[in-house]
Amino acid sequence: MSDQEKYVPHPGEPAPEAGNEQHEAAAYGDEEMQIVHKQLERENGEPEEGFTPVPMVLMVCFGLLFFWAGMYFTKYNGDFRPDVFGTDWTPGGNSAQAQAPFDPIKRGDKLFSNNCAACHQPDGNGVPGAFPPLDGSPWVVGAPERFVKIVMRGLHGPVEVKGNTFNGNMPSYGENGLNWDDRDISAITTFVRQNWSNEAPPISEEQVAEIRASIADKTGAWTAAELLALHPME
Ligand code: HEC
Repeated sequence: MSDQEKYVPHPGEPAPEAGNEQHEAAAYGDEEMQIVHKQLERENGEPEEGFTPVPMVLMVCFGLLFFWAGMYFTKYNGDFRPDVFGTDWTPGGNSAQAQAPFDPIKRGDKLFSNNCAACHQPDGNGVPGAFPPLDGSPWVVGAPERFVKIVMRGLHGPVEVKGNTFNGNMPSYGENGLNWDDRDISAITTFVRQNWSNEAPPISEEQVAEIRASIADKTGAWTAAELLALHPME
């Protein structure tokens, strides 16, 4: 360190040679004081009164943070319901709906529209020469066994319905088909038995379960003749 650029300690900084009285005294000399002040002037702006604007970068960061928080909150607010974290929460429903009793007619209506109406038609009248009617059909309103068995395994070959003979293929909704459970088969059969002009008693889940067990060995679709041999028309 040359003499010209003598080291000047910052205020509060211990002098490099602390304890050296001569050096300390020199540091507070007039000349040195002026150097210190010059340095301070150069390094720090004059303190001002009033507000300093928040830096742009910080504003953008906070903006993004609030935007993200808003999105997160909108997505995960759980409708502000305390029970959304419960184990029996059903998405899209409220607890009143979740506890509402199962409505077989409503369920059957939906199953019918999605699965049967394409062939048997929404009005249940079928299509002449292709799909037999369900409205007023003895296969529907007669013995529950015939109807449940048709839905569970399907039907093929000639079948007479309300004076007309059909000969097509009815798909299966049981084990070898769409594999509907007892509740859904009970719902679809009950709905069809009570829709349009039909007024037959419902078919319970228990009845469906019994019929299911009784045909466990049956593979492939029924023929009308097979069913009539088991359950003659009333
Ligand atoms: C792909 C078309 C098709 C679909 C889907 C269909 N069926 Fe059928 N269904 C038929 C055909 C064809 C017959 C006649 C079968 C025959 O000729 O042996 C039939 C016969 C029936 C019969 C006995 C005859 C009668 O008209 O009463 C019932 C009952 C029946 N279907 C109910 C249903 C139900 C309930 C559904 C929905 C779960 C359904 N079908 C879905 C085509 C279909």
